[in-house]
Amino acid sequence: MSLVPEVKIFGKKIYTYAQVKSTNKIAYQLAEQGAEEGVLVVAGEQTEGEGRAGHYWFSPQGGLWFSLILRPPIGFCVSRLSILGAIGIARSVKKMFSFLSPKIRWPNDAIIRGKKVGGVLCKVRSIQKRVIFVIMGIGVNINIEEFPSPLSFTTTSLKREMGHSVSSKIFQECLLEELERLYFSSQDDFSSILEEARSFSSLLGKQVKVQTGEGEFLGVVQDIDEEGGLILRLESGMQKRIGAEEGYLK
Ligand code: BTN
Repeated sequence: MSLVPEVKIFGKKIYTYAQVKSTNKIAYQLAEQGAEEGVLVVAGEQTEGEGRAGHYWFSPQGGLWFSLILRPPIGFCVSRLSILGAIGIARSVKKMFSFLSPKIRWPNDAIIRGKKVGGVLCKVRSIQKRVIFVIMGIGVNINIEEFPSPLSFTTTSLKREMGHSVSSKIFQECLLEELERLYFSSQDDFSSILEEARSFSSLLGKQVKVQTGEGEFLGVVQDIDEEGGLILRLESGMQKRIGAEEGYLK
């Protein structure tokens, strides 16, 4: 029996704000107060948007900035969530603009023509190793025209790629539908999602430098594993696994 629900859960209840510090912070507070799975916090702009590794996330008006409350069942592998989010963005871009051929860059970036168009930041709340909730924060550059330096070299938006404005609302609906499908079907079978991650990946076979708490690793990407980890072949010939929450590309 499939676990994919027939009813729509993600975004069934939406809190919308014109401006917030960070939707992740608001969603975290709501979840602490008992808000249910699927509750969504969306903002027109963020003044203190949070990116991975403590980076500031540029989030002016014109982007899609939201945070989704998840309450995964016992045993759910939360380290897969960043990749699920990135696949969700890539699927939505492909569905709406098939010729853009979006890619994902481990563990949480959605990219178009080598530039970042969206990212995912998950915050896990657990008590004694038991996950209570996860906040999945997603940012997608929809109609942003200009990025400040040095972002301008590495970042793009759907508007820049398409040459015209894109409906944030339609993109949000498409993305929520994909995320809901991915989240529940991953509880049934992750292997086909992993295959999809591999086929969207821009990194397989490429040389990368990854920063971790243990230091910097240079190697060729061999694979992404069942838990969303990156498998590198180091220059020494040794294999190195880096967990999804343990490192970021330099
Ligand atoms: C990354 O570094 O790639 C992750 C970026 C995640 C940004 C989103 S925007 C909505 C949510 N609120 C935040 O403060 N961050 C996430």
